[in-house]
Amino acid sequence: MSENAKITLEGKEFELPVVTGTEGEKAIDITKLRDQTGYITLDVGYKNTGATTSALTFLDGEVGLLRHRGYSIEDLAEKASFLEVAYLLIYGELPTRQEFSDFDNSIREHTLVNEGLENMFKVFPTGSHPMGQLISMISALSLFYPKSLNPHRDTDAVNRTMLRLMAKMPTICAMIFKKRNGHPIVYPKNNLDYVSNYLNMTFSQVTMDDYTADPIIVDAMNKLMILHADHEQNCSASTVRMVGSSNANLYCSVSAGISALWGPLHGGANQEVLEMLEMIKEDGGNVQKWVDKAKDKNDNFRLMGFGHRVYKNFDPRAKIIKKTCDDVLNKLGVHDPVLEIAKKLEEAALTDSYFVERKLYPNVDFYSGIIYRAMGFPTDFFTVLFAMGRLPGWIAQWQEMRNDKQPIARPRQIYTGPTERPFLFFDQRS
Ligand code: ACO
Repeated sequence: MSENAKITLEGKEFELPVVTGTEGEKAIDITKLRDQTGYITLDVGYKNTGATTSALTFLDGEVGLLRHRGYSIEDLAEKASFLEVAYLLIYGELPTRQEFSDFDNSIREHTLVNEGLENMFKVFPTGSHPMGQLISMISALSLFYPKSLNPHRDTDAVNRTMLRLMAKMPTICAMIFKKRNGHPIVYPKNNLDYVSNYLNMTFSQVTMDDYTADPIIVDAMNKLMILHADHEQNCSASTVRMVGSSNANLYCSVSAGISALWGPLHGGANQEVLEMLEMIKEDGGNVQKWVDKAKDKNDNFRLMGFGHRVYKNFDPRAKIIKKTCDDVLNKLGVHDPVLEIAKKLEEAALTDSYFVERKLYPNVDFYSGIIYRAMGFPTDFFTVLFAMGRLPGWIAQWQEMRNDKQPIARPRQIYTGPTERPFLFFDQRS
């Protein structure tokens, strides 16, 4: 039996359909609300608005649960490779052996980028932020593949664009890394798997052929990328969908998503966390002082890596990352004093009523930076690694939006400015 919600406005009752998801979540469908009543809904920051239906990712923030296409994040992080998860997100099912091999091979075929792209580094100022470079490079791909400009081309052409982007992302990220160090670019070695190839392009040198990525690092990188692969309608995924809804091409839609990710309240938090932990260390390591600052409403300081719009219990990704962080540092024999500070900070915050009452827990960004640092990445590169992991999610969100033939995203507003008034000439203005 279909369910309806009743709403009374100006003494008149209206019925609105209720939509129920496969996990039982309910929404009031307000698509026709304005036509029927003249009213719109207002929800600044979309705290309570479902912008789409989606079959990609389910998360229950109240219990700390995350699943992609029905598979738990714990299972995926433990048992799958990043490329398998990418396939799952983009195509809807775990690949058979043959499907995986075809997908993997197609990606290996497209890892090279046009040499012309390297010219872009001539205009980036020395020391410019890698995220700004990545945004520019990914949108520039659309110029090298003009056929991709039309997202309505046949399925094969769209699929090729998705594979190209998956394949070129690690190459571009590694180019940015090399260029920031003033080192020559290392070309992809397509006998290597996705993650090892990326690490090789990043850490090996063109003049030497003696680099083999440490399996501990390959494994941790796979895990981290899986944990970042998708997270339903977050700020960057919603941006990708919104930009894509105007029929913008995939490269530019994803570039816009990377821009959204860069912000410190979103993916940029992983850089901020490490800088915060360093600052606390330099300041003498008194974590309580910083917890108190975070609670002080007259102080702008927030505990970076804490809190989440939807997780109000714990972030399941943070649990896995914390364990991975311990494992990786132990196996690599790295002792990083900021890990101790991070743990003390977590303990102090989790027992503090301010954080408990507001349900503020460590999020995915809290421990990831410590692992990235142990792997040899500089702080300002952390968000690039997040972007590389999130790419299949953005692609899948963009594709789902297109396949569902969603209309251009165009929210409404409630106007609060002046009502109509006559124009005043300079000498009439006070
Ligand atoms: N430190 C101190 N107080 C906090 C924090 C924090 N990290 N996060 C939230 N609060 C407080 C707010 O001040 C507010 O308090 P109030 O009710 O007394 O006014 C309350 O908790 C609710 O916070 P909001 O900002 O309203 O929550 P919102 O859902 O809008 O924001 C966000 C979520 C942006 C993640 C926020 O928790 C935050 O800024 N965290 C730090 C940045 C961060 O780690 N971002 C990464 C998120 S994960 C990701 O995007 C990959």
